[in-house]
Amino acid sequence: MKLESLAVHAGGRKPSAGFTAAATPIHVSSSYFYGTAAELAKVEAGNAEGYSYTRHGNPTADALHEQIAALEGGGAALSTASGMSALHLALSAALTGRPQRIVAANMLFGQTYLLLSGVMEPQGVETRFADPCDPDAFERAVAEHRPSCVLLEAVSNPLLRVAELDRIAAIAHEHGAALVADCTFTTPALLQARGLGADFIVHSGTKHLAGHADVLGGILVYANEHAPLVEDLSQTLGPNLGPFECYLTMRGIKTLPLRMAAHCRNAGIVARALQEDERILRVHYPGLADHPDHDAASRLFLPAAGGEKQYGGMVSFEIASAGRQEVFRFLNALKLVVRTLSLGDVHSLVSYPAMSSHRNLSPKHRARLGIGDNLLRLSVGIEDPEDIVEDLLQALRG
Ligand SMILES: Cc1ncc(COP(=O)(O)O)c(C=O)c1O
Repeated sequence: MKLESLAVHAGGRKPSAGFTAAATPIHVSSSYFYGTAAELAKVEAGNAEGYSYTRHGNPTADALHEQIAALEGGGAALSTASGMSALHLALSAALTGRPQRIVAANMLFGQTYLLLSGVMEPQGVETRFADPCDPDAFERAVAEHRPSCVLLEAVSNPLLRVAELDRIAAIAHEHGAALVADCTFTTPALLQARGLGADFIVHSGTKHLAGHADVLGGILVYANEHAPLVEDLSQTLGPNLGPFECYLTMRGIKTLPLRMAAHCRNAGIVARALQEDERILRVHYPGLADHPDHDAASRLFLPAAGGEKQYGGMVSFEIASAGRQEVFRFLNALKLVVRTLSLGDVHSLVSYPAMSSHRNLSPKHRARLGIGDNLLRLSVGIEDPEDIVEDLLQALRG
C-alpha cells in the first residue's frame, strides 16, 4: 500500500463487542480486568495477548504505534509525552549496557544540546560533536571517540542542513554504533529513515505528525530486535503519551502526506519570494539550488504522490541589517503568520531561534552555529501561498 493509503487505514480498526468502529476508539482506562484473576496474571506476565495497565500498553496508543510503524516501513513504535522524552528514550536504549559515548551532529535543537550537556553528561555520558554534512570529518570523530550511538537531525534546526543520512548510518554501523535520527522536520512523508539505515527514529509528534497545534507528544520508531529493551525502559520510566493525545496524533497522521505536500509546495513559493526581496540577506531552504545540501535533499527526499519534488515545509531567513529591535518590529507587523514557538502546524508560524529554540545556548555558541540575531525560522502552513507571501512582505515593509 502507498503512504497516503497507509496513513488513513493503518492501525486501529479492531472488532470489539460484535462491531468495528470506523474511527479509533479512545480507551481512557488506566487498568483492565478479565473474567478470572488467572487471565489477568497471564496477560501481566506477557503469556497472553491483552492489556493490564496503561503504562504497559493501551489499545489507542497501540493503534497509533501500528500506524506510524506502517508509515516508517516496519519495525515497532512507541509514543511518548513529548519529542524530548522520545529522544531521551532512544539515547537511553542505544547506550544501555554499552560504552557511555555519543558522537552527535554539531547542529541540533537547543534543548537537545541541553539533554546531552545538562542531563546525560552529569550521568557519565561523553559526547563529541562533529559536522554531519562533512562525512569524512564525521567518520574521523566516530573512529576516535568510539561511540555506542550517533545522533543527528535529518534536517537540522534551525538552519535546515541536510546530512546524507545513509552515509552517516554506514559510518555508525561500521564502527559498531547505532544511529539515532531525529526526523521531526521530515516525517516519513519526506524521508524513509529506516530504509536509509537509522536504528532509532525520533519525532516530535507535536509538529507535522499531529499538525494542528493541539498535542504535545513524541514518537520513537525502532527495529523489532530493540523492542524488548525499549519496551522495558518505557514501562519503567513511564514516558507514555495519554490516550486522547494518541488519538489526536493518529487523526493528524491520516492527512500527513497531503499536508506535507502542501507545506512543501508553499515553502518553495515562499522561499523564492523571500530570496528575491532585497530586505532579505539570506534564505535557507534545501529546495533552493544554492543551498549547500540541495543535492543531498534531492537524492534523499521522497516526491509527493503526484511526483512533485519535496524539500520540506520549513524556511529560515535572515533579515538584512536587523538586530532584535528590527526583528521584533517585523514580528509585531505580521497579520496572518502566527509569531509563536513550535512548527509543522496547518497555519504558518514564525519563531525567533535566538529567543526560542536556541535561547538556552550562550550567544557565543549560537554565533558558532550560525544563529544570528537576524535569523527567523518560518514553518510554512497550508494557507494560500499568496496570502503568506503578502503577509511576510507587508511586515518587512513595516
Ligand atoms: C528537531 C526537534 N527535535 C525535538 C524537539 C522536541 O519536541 P517536543 O517539543 O515535542 O518535546 C523539537 C522541538 O521543537 C525539535 O525541533
